[in-house]
Amino acid sequence: MTAKELREKFINFFTEREHKVIPSSSLIPENDPTTLFISAGMHPLVPYLLGEPHPQGRRLCSVQKCLRTGDIEAVGDTYHHTFFEMLGNWSLGDYWKETMIPLSFEFLTKVLKIPSEKISVTCFAGDKDAPKDEETAKLWEKAGIPRERIFFLGKEDNWWGPAGKTGPCGPDTEMFYDTGKPDCGPDCQPGCSCGKYLEIWNDVFMQYYKTPEEDFKTLEQKNIDTGMGVERTTAVLNGLDDDYKTELFLPIIKEIEKISEKSYEKEENKKPMRIIADHLKASVFILAEGITPSNTEQGYVLRRLIRRAVRFGRMLEIHGSFSGLVAESVIRTMGDTYPEIVSQSERIYRELGLEEERFLKTIQRGTKEFEKLSQKGKITGKEAFFLYETYGFPFELTVEMAKEKEIEINEEEFIKAQEEHQRKSRIGAEKKFAGGLADQSEQVTKYHTATHLLHAALRKVLGETVRQAGSNITAERMRFDFTYPSKMTDEQINKVEDLVNQKIKENLPVEFKVVSLEEAKKEGAMALFEQKYQERVKLYKIGDFSKEVCGGPHVSFTGELGKFKIIKEEASGAGKRRIYATLS
Ligand code: SER
Repeated sequence: MTAKELREKFINFFTEREHKVIPSSSLIPENDPTTLFISAGMHPLVPYLLGEPHPQGRRLCSVQKCLRTGDIEAVGDTYHHTFFEMLGNWSLGDYWKETMIPLSFEFLTKVLKIPSEKISVTCFAGDKDAPKDEETAKLWEKAGIPRERIFFLGKEDNWWGPAGKTGPCGPDTEMFYDTGKPDCGPDCQPGCSCGKYLEIWNDVFMQYYKTPEEDFKTLEQKNIDTGMGVERTTAVLNGLDDDYKTELFLPIIKEIEKISEKSYEKEENKKPMRIIADHLKASVFILAEGITPSNTEQGYVLRRLIRRAVRFGRMLEIHGSFSGLVAESVIRTMGDTYPEIVSQSERIYRELGLEEERFLKTIQRGTKEFEKLSQKGKITGKEAFFLYETYGFPFELTVEMAKEKEIEINEEEFIKAQEEHQRKSRIGAEKKFAGGLADQSEQVTKYHTATHLLHAALRKVLGETVRQAGSNITAERMRFDFTYPSKMTDEQINKVEDLVNQKIKENLPVEFKVVSLEEAKKEGAMALFEQKYQERVKLYKIGDFSKEVCGGPHVSFTGELGKFKIIKEEASGAGKRRIYATLS
């Protein structure tokens, strides 16, 4: 079965059972400054898992683009990926376990035709936060999985979420495929990493909310959240023990074989080839979102991925620029399903080429510095770290060159210096993520509502040709881009500011209704119409002042916003302006 058929079969199975298909959301979370990328199908659905009504109803399914940055270093084996696709279905307070377990069993055995005796499952063993999930085990037994293939494991294996520090989570039940390989010892069972059992699907019973105090509160709405990795399942269904041999990666690997004139079948080439394929595939998808390589946030992840790919290219003795060729094979392989990578292909090639060039310069500068340092016949770990920290010169290259020159290098000291650095940046990152995913902080919600007010005010003051061209919210400020040909005068800025503050003072209700996109357009609502919307959308109204299609969430009354202030107005590309504003 091809990946394409798998996606279709999954979606058909659930739409036949009254689920609405939601399009994959962007890889970049909307209005959620606490996390860089969407990491699971449930991630864009957090507000709805917490009880907000979803415009498409209580039963949903999707194929979601996901990216996990925690896995960058783990890539290189048969099944880790940074970018991957996740099939998922959701019950938002609708059906529960007694429906989901038979559905899972039916899909695996009847649609995917996996023999039932190849399937084993794990359930939550229970602890102080939640009881042992005997209920699910009984349902599996009823469906046709005998007791000896039902295992109970603790939180580290059978609990999913929250995606951030706080948020919806719960016990899960995981389904494993037995590859038929011999077990690795008497303790080998599903959950063991030896490769005998491969996890293919995860049903999460999201009935808890993890609080910042690490308590687990029961959610009022009990949800089902499932996730099935397209790459792994395609491999299993085709009897392959390596995701990179599936049609989702094979053409990319073949291209790398061609460029490097080396064979994937040779053990030593496997790891670098997988890393190049994975990282450049992820880079193509991040670039398609409009992100550019940089030293911060998503741009930094992108930079790291491209540079790592280039570095592993060197290990395969590829010296020229090659990322564009690999990207081309990614676009050929994935473009049918994700047309955005086709329409963005020019930009993707351009940015990849530029970043490769910049990295090459880095390597040249670092090499010069290396030459200087190595004259004394030895490079200390601290010096190697300095090369890495200051010139972005990869440690592996330092080691490689030191070997060539037969000079000594203190790896331990390097690792120590790096760990110290990582410890410091982890503290920084923890601060950033402290808000947690579901904790779309009150302040962010306020800014989100202020965005609608600002948009409407700009159109009143500057005219109806003004259109939103982008926005970015942090807990400290909002940034709003819009189309307008010239610099705003001080008078215009004051007028806009006053108008927004007046609407805040009027304490207008913020309300939404669910309508079709056509109806929203008819009502004259603002929307980013070139963006993909779902069939039914939420139309947010702020009194009679603003009407916009938007996913929410928003405050209930504008009076909650406080005082609105425009901090800066500046150019933002041709025909576009940018405003920074705060609420206090
Ligand atoms: N959230 C769960 C996962 O990522 C199920 O969708 O596996």
